[in-house]
Amino acid sequence: MFYLCTPIFIPNLVEKETIYILAIESSCDDTSAAVLCNDNVISNVVATQKIHEEYGGVVPELASRAHQQNILPVVHQALLKANIDKKQLSTIAFTRGPGLMGSLLVGTSFAKSVALGLEIPLIEVNHMQAHILAHFINEENSPKPEFPFLAMTISGGHTQIVRVNNHFNFEILGETLDDAVGEAFDKSGKILGLPYPGGPMVDKYAQLGDPKKFPFPKPKVGNLNFSFSGLKTSILYFIQRETQKNPTFVAENLNDICASIQYTIINILMDKLIAAVKQTGIKRVAIGGGVSANSGIRAALKNAEKNYGWSTYIPKFEYCTDNAAMIGIVGYYKYKSQRFASHDVTAKARYII
Ligand code: KG4
Ligand code: ZN
Repeated sequence: MFYLCTPIFIPNLVEKETIYILAIESSCDDTSAAVLCNDNVISNVVATQKIHEEYGGVVPELASRAHQQNILPVVHQALLKANIDKKQLSTIAFTRGPGLMGSLLVGTSFAKSVALGLEIPLIEVNHMQAHILAHFINEENSPKPEFPFLAMTISGGHTQIVRVNNHFNFEILGETLDDAVGEAFDKSGKILGLPYPGGPMVDKYAQLGDPKKFPFPKPKVGNLNFSFSGLKTSILYFIQRETQKNPTFVAENLNDICASIQYTIINILMDKLIAAVKQTGIKRVAIGGGVSANSGIRAALKNAEKNYGWSTYIPKFEYCTDNAAMIGIVGYYKYKSQRFASHDVTAKARYII
């Protein structure tokens, strides 16, 4: 039916109009809903799926079922916290991709139904673009980067260095050729017997250890690209070798092992960022994605401000890992420029920025 394939309502945007955005994120294993008033976040609710912990990683089939269970309560809570009635909503923004197809389908279908039911425009959002534009959420003491700037997106699924020319124009300068940096953290955690996700656990123990105790090799990868699979293998062999000699090696050295792994990963990231700044001459550097919650990368960026004169932009903790507020801020900029999706839009597991 043709009428379903076009936005049913296109508002006449008046400059300075107050808009309320309901945003939905369901790309992986967090179900999240947020309400924004223009570029201000008034609620941001995240339901983290605990079910995956016992499997040591995200099980896609279980993730989509949990999204289906969580999505209504999470949206209800976001509206309640924002003290907003659904009739006040101006638009709904949702994550179209990249991510797990089953998970994306839950958010996509939900958002399309809401748009149809409330007769409001629908906005589709690229998850990685959202990790970058999270820096444009209006927050006290959080200056927004000027264009152009460099953004390093570091998450469980991505590792990229992007030149951001404006809110909608991105150039990928380099990316991982194999594992994402979040995977490197999580797989290291798994090798050490830590619960999933390993990233925050490695970070926690790393803060108590000696980062130079166990040196690991850095990969030799050209240009601004990354590779983490070799590091994972060398960590695995190192732990196997040492535990053969001493079965309690990991327990006795956990802090130092985590600190050494984290030190190597952060060095790999920083080497490429330094090269990207040299190549582009752009000294405004932002990070986004779950791994930007890491204490090591946050400290390294702060040092780069002092040592290299960079201006760095680090998101607030709640906007680092997956959340709907970042989807909402993309929704805000797309609404302002009337970039609405038609009702035949579909989820996209591979969605290049
Ligand atoms: O952006 P995100 O929430 O989901 C994806 O889009 O992938 O990122 C999740 C990743 C996981 O690999 C998790 O272990 C990692 O971010 N992560 C961390 C920390 N907090 C989350 N990695 C290192 N240190 C942390 N503090
Ligand atoms: Zn993410």
